[in-house]
Amino acid sequence: MIANVSLLGSKAKRDALVERTLWWWDRHRRSLPWRAPQGQVSEPYRVWLSEILLQQTTASAAAPFYLRFVARWPTVEDLAEARSEEVIAAFAGLGYYARARNLHACAKEIALRGGRFPADESDLLSLPGVGPYTAAAISAIAFGRRAAPVDGNIARILARLVALEEPVKQAKSAVASVARALAPDDRAGDFAQALMDIGATICRPRGPDCKTCPLKEDCLAFCSGAPEVYPRRAEAKAKPARYGAVFFARRADGAFLARRRPPQGLLPSTVELPGTSWTAVRPGRSWTVDAPVVALWRELPGAVRQAFSHFSLSLTVYGAAFEAHAPGGLFWVRLEAIDALGFSSVMRKAIDHALSAANVGKVAASDNLPPQGYRSAL
Ligand code: ADE
Repeated sequence: MIANVSLLGSKAKRDALVERTLWWWDRHRRSLPWRAPQGQVSEPYRVWLSEILLQQTTASAAAPFYLRFVARWPTVEDLAEARSEEVIAAFAGLGYYARARNLHACAKEIALRGGRFPADESDLLSLPGVGPYTAAAISAIAFGRRAAPVDGNIARILARLVALEEPVKQAKSAVASVARALAPDDRAGDFAQALMDIGATICRPRGPDCKTCPLKEDCLAFCSGAPEVYPRRAEAKAKPARYGAVFFARRADGAFLARRRPPQGLLPSTVELPGTSWTAVRPGRSWTVDAPVVALWRELPGAVRQAFSHFSLSLTVYGAAFEAHAPGGLFWVRLEAIDALGFSSVMRKAIDHALSAANVGKVAASDNLPPQGYRSAL
């Protein structure tokens, strides 16, 4: 671990690296909706919110969610007062639903403290949903404290910088030491965000654009001539498979049947197509035995796949025309209402799959095509 930090060289060399990185950032930083204009600092609420929304996703995927959140809940007190279903619905599509609940719990906690976020990493760490990365990012970006957030992008840059020979997962503390050794006393937030931008735009997992990188002179992976072999890859563990089916019952006016998941468990309170439970083996009979209504079900070709943290799901989609009242526990959803209702990503994929099949005439109600523009809104 110590050896890796020493690979960074003297304090003067590290300072020069930081200097060059900040020089690059001042000229090439991405303009992102949660960022304050150059030389200013964003409000802690906005920094916290953006960091939570950005966990496990990219800036371009998180940006529309961030803009919707701040338009609807401009302050942490507004968010604290929202109904939890509204917050979960606004979060749906970003995955990891425990995060939506923690986000709301954290907003309530901060509202109780008079709307003020703590500045210290250790105090931030005690808040719901705030882990070491997020605490360090908020402390550095919103409060200018010397802190060294390490997310996947930053870990990749640092592993390349020192040509780390172990996979990052097995050398987390070595990577954290490198990050701490570089974090400047001044502009730690800018330095962290510069690394985020370099990770997203230059030091990409594949095909890093080393010639434009402000770190190249110090980067041992670049000097090795094969930067892409770092970080060393850990052996991939196969996730267990799960299988299930969903049923797309479609009315002549285009509406389809849906239901809301319970508030506990996987994807809590999100809206979904009615379907079977998800099991480790496919049942030895047709899935349609579990269909929510009696109809002429057709299995649509292909399957919808989604990777969850602990398993990989393969969903078979069935389509049918259905005109009666929605049975208990189900309700009709018009295509225009999909965005507002809080469908999870996997269910959006399933709906898209069913609608694509309808477009090519494989669902019975194929004469009722979705309005133009729906698919691009997904
Ligand atoms: N990824 C995580 N946090 C980020 C931030 N503040 N800016 C850009 N990308 C990020």
